[in-house]
Amino acid sequence: MLVSGSGSNMLALDDACRHGAVPGEVVGVVADRPCAGLGSAEERGIPTALVAFGEHSSRAVWNMAMYEAVLALRPDLVVAAGFMRLLAPSFVDAWPGRLVNLHPALLPSFPGAHAVRDALAAGVDVTGATVHLIDHEVDHGPVVAQETVLVEPGDTEESLHARIKVVEHRLLPRACVAVLESFEQTAGREGARR
Ligand code: GRF
Repeated sequence: MLVSGSGSNMLALDDACRHGAVPGEVVGVVADRPCAGLGSAEERGIPTALVAFGEHSSRAVWNMAMYEAVLALRPDLVVAAGFMRLLAPSFVDAWPGRLVNLHPALLPSFPGAHAVRDALAAGVDVTGATVHLIDHEVDHGPVVAQETVLVEPGDTEESLHARIKVVEHRLLPRACVAVLESFEQTAGREGARR
């Protein structure tokens, strides 16, 4: 998993794996900066890697280091949850159909780093969470799963984001199962064709 922040979705996915709701395990957590998510993963004994953006001489060098850190974990699925850096096209192309992002809004509405704030500012009654496959554009790519969250009167960015996270914690594991199943079916079909 790729994280930059608190890592609550990483913990929710790990819980879902440990309880058998997702067939698999969180094989590693990679972050672009020191963050709580790395610490939580370490406490659970999940392998971690810090690939600090600021410690690399260029975006290209950082991207290559990210690629190597993730590749070393040999993941079936790469999940970005609260990962706040853009991934280069070469990284995206390394895991076709197996690289997903979690976004705290109903894409295509409110892409970008301030999705919850932007939804509140726009005065919408309904927002939500999206899991989508990552492509070469920001917060773009085929939607795997979405769920709505009602905006309540008096909501702040914090209160609304907290309710969105509750939804994300169940949406992300479900979406991961769907992506894995779809990838396996495609791989199976391609194997049969050979
Ligand atoms: C989530 O709301 C996710 O949608 C957004 O960043 C937040 C990460 O939260 N991209 P956490 O680090 O999983 O608690």
